[in-house]
Amino acid sequence: MSTIDWHPEDPATLADPYPVFARMRDEDPCFWSPRLKSWVLTRYDDVKAVCLDKERLSSDRLRPFFASLPPPEAERIGQIIRYLSQWMVFNDPPDHTRLRRLTSRVFHAKSMQAMRPQVADIADWLMDGIGSRTEFDFITDFAGPLPCLVIMALLGVERQELARVKRMSDDMALFIGSSRTSPEKYDTAEAATHEMAGFFRELIEDRRRTPRADLMSELVHLRDDDGDRLTEDELVATCILLLFAGHETTTNHIANGMLALMRFPDQMARLQAEPALANAAVEELLRYDGPSGAQVRIVSQTHELHGKTLEAGQRVFIMLNAANRDPRAYPDPDRVDLDRDGPPHLSFGFGIHICLGFPLARTEGQVAFPALLKRYRAIEPMTTSPAWINSLVFRGMTSLPVRVRHA
Ligand code: HEM
Repeated sequence: MSTIDWHPEDPATLADPYPVFARMRDEDPCFWSPRLKSWVLTRYDDVKAVCLDKERLSSDRLRPFFASLPPPEAERIGQIIRYLSQWMVFNDPPDHTRLRRLTSRVFHAKSMQAMRPQVADIADWLMDGIGSRTEFDFITDFAGPLPCLVIMALLGVERQELARVKRMSDDMALFIGSSRTSPEKYDTAEAATHEMAGFFRELIEDRRRTPRADLMSELVHLRDDDGDRLTEDELVATCILLLFAGHETTTNHIANGMLALMRFPDQMARLQAEPALANAAVEELLRYDGPSGAQVRIVSQTHELHGKTLEAGQRVFIMLNAANRDPRAYPDPDRVDLDRDGPPHLSFGFGIHICLGFPLARTEGQVAFPALLKRYRAIEPMTTSPAWINSLVFRGMTSLPVRVRHA
């Protein structure tokens, strides 16, 4: 019987979940959480093995939940069910394989890395907007809008739509980001999904009539060698997924990464002096405090792990951030060290569902951190205890007030 009493929603645990993760890794690596009614895995090797195990674990985690809803409730979130069921991330092979194969023909490393000049332009534009202010909210004014504007540019959505797109995406997060939401939040998320679907349907129709030089046009006109293509609904679902998956995660990467640099000023100074360290910095910051705290799998075949029986149908939380701090994988894991080497971090997941957008996410971090450290001679936090989002899936802050000295 485990003596670990894990309260994921406790503010102190949200602010620093790492001490309890260390206990789980050492004392109970296959921990049963009575609160989540789920298994919780925290060791690097176990988390990676789950990501690679398509036979015994399933990513189809929404269908069982949707199926359990009484008909009136299912109807109430009809749009959410319709589109999210078609997200590759919630599907197993062969549906996942087909969706990922088709989408990757457009969203490949080359097309995403080609966004670098636009990312740099957006970062500069946002810092121009901050102007001569010496105090601002790093999330509201920079880390929040940047990834949203990048995805919008990628999909060919005009910059002036930012506030609307961000609101729709934030409202949808009320369904996805938290497992403990109220019915009113579901209504807001449902309305946002409906609105977003209509928004993308119009955009798709426009690109069908008049293709442009953007990835949205390529996605709409995409055919593979066998003539297969995304259906209209799959197109809408994929656009929503790209916007959603690529947005809050990257915001949190840039904000968590900046907080970590502020807490390890020697490493911030190194990056400032040597911007060529940006690639190493992005990987280390993703490892140190990544934006995806957990992913969920469903046990599809009963099996044993660390002497426990994982029964078919049970839920498993794989704690990516706990795995990334496993001393079995990384020496001195609680330090930010731009010289670190070691196995790849698991912040983008691993295996068939490894983040489709990771080349873009990396590019955004590689551009944003040096650009900020060039524009501002010093950046420091205005609080020692920022507020954290109440979510296991998203690891990020609600705001991060900073004070800067202009270069
Ligand atoms: C630092 C930023 C990001 C992080 C930490 C991140 C993290 C992740 C993780 C952990 C997964 C795997 C989910 C699972 O195993 O169930 C994933 C999947 C995915 N991500 Fe990201 N992501 C980021 C940015 C992006 C961006 C910028 C995009 C799109 C432009 C994107 C699109 C996707 C998609 C489409 C999937 C589903 C892939 C599949 O199921 O095959 N992500 N991401």
